[in-house]
Amino acid sequence: YAPSTLAIHADDHLNQTTDVAPPIHLSTTYRYPSSPSALAPVPADTDPSAAALLSPTAPLIYSRVAASNLNRLETLLAPLLFPAHAADPAALSRLAVHVITYASGLAAFHALLVRLAPRVVALSGGYHGIHGVVSLHARLHGLRTVDLHASDAAWDAAGLGPGDLVHLETPLNPTGEASCIAAFAARAHARGALLSVDATFGPPGLQDPFAWGADVVMHSGTKYIGGHSDLLCGVLATTAVGEVGGRLAVGLRADRVFLGSVMGGLEGWLGVRSLRTLELRVGRQSQSAGELVRWLDGCVNGGRAADQDAQAEAEAEVVRRCVDRVQHASLQREDMGWLKQQMPNGFGPVFAIWMRDPAAARVLPSKLKLFHHATSLGGVESLIEWRRMSDHDVDERLLRVSVGVEDWRDLKADLAAGLRALVEEGLLGGESKEVQVRENG
Ligand SMILES: Cc1ncc(COP(=O)(O)O)c(C=O)c1O
Repeated sequence: YAPSTLAIHADDHLNQTTDVAPPIHLSTTYRYPSSPSALAPVPADTDPSAAALLSPTAPLIYSRVAASNLNRLETLLAPLLFPAHAADPAALSRLAVHVITYASGLAAFHALLVRLAPRVVALSGGYHGIHGVVSLHARLHGLRTVDLHASDAAWDAAGLGPGDLVHLETPLNPTGEASCIAAFAARAHARGALLSVDATFGPPGLQDPFAWGADVVMHSGTKYIGGHSDLLCGVLATTAVGEVGGRLAVGLRADRVFLGSVMGGLEGWLGVRSLRTLELRVGRQSQSAGELVRWLDGCVNGGRAADQDAQAEAEAEVVRRCVDRVQHASLQREDMGWLKQQMPNGFGPVFAIWMRDPAAARVLPSKLKLFHHATSLGGVESLIEWRRMSDHDVDERLLRVSVGVEDWRDLKADLAAGLRALVEEGLLGGESKEVQVRENG
């Protein structure tokens, strides 16, 4: 079956009731068999049979170890995160063990660092919270970093080698720009290091980092996997070999019992609800983002089209007065050779707008009706964020846009009206009266 079919049916074998929609299971603890002869005492953690208790089909004991809704969620994620194996039912049932969910995206990244205990991590830019996790590990055991984009010689001088980690976020938060996964896989593997890819901005259906050499794929499932702005979730998927020759996923799963960073049962249920529509949502969001970026970039950089009417030209003039540039993978024209291979179905639904003036960037969200002014992304609702609200390191002219599932023409009209209001109300710095910032900004 195709991944979209499996997003509806991969968990059928775990359904033990006649309910079509999955029931919500919230119990934290589960009854042991009633017959004393069926009681199997727990093996020691070091006993090889202990790993079997962590499989999604093992009898349930306690929800910090495994729980019904989470088993279903991880089982459904397997064909989406390992699409190359979607047609092989036997492989898929093995792969469910290789998807581990966490209480949040940052909890997932922390768990990866705890398991691998690298001495050096190569990373740069991207979501600031990831750097926060790295600094916890620097404090605890002296983890060192090297710039992801530094030369091979700089990586070697930093001591990046076997057991270390190259961590690539692609597409990148907050601009939506993409990096070549295969190129970083080659550089990491040449040194015996693993490549982890934070694919939050390019969810299943848009890119398959394993096909290009990733050893670990990470998601903030809070974003597209959840898709409704109502659950926190982190995901790690891997078939890599772990540090003592065992499977990395088994080690991660065992560690999660003691890290305690599991999703709650209700969140697991919400995740299952969400995955059913992942392909539909993400396909639409990606396409709409492409339309909006094409329009904005065309206004800023394009010449006047022969058939452009007066209204479109007036709109383009307003965009030009407000917007300096737009950033998104679809505008990486020189990279299209590898980019079209790695993201064949469309680019991520997040893009960045650089306003000409910081004050206008701060005001624009208050002029929009269809975009909530809020952080996060990936939900069905379109969001815009004056990025300075949540990241102190960014330029004050930066707005991040997360496109939802509304009709893109309505979103375009809303952005056009908001930008027009900035011009008409004289709110463009340098051209204008004093900027009035609404209290809720
Ligand atoms: C690219 C990326 N990775 C990781 C995270 C962290 O995820 P969470 O908020 O689920 O912990 C985020 C959150 O915005 C993100 O954008």
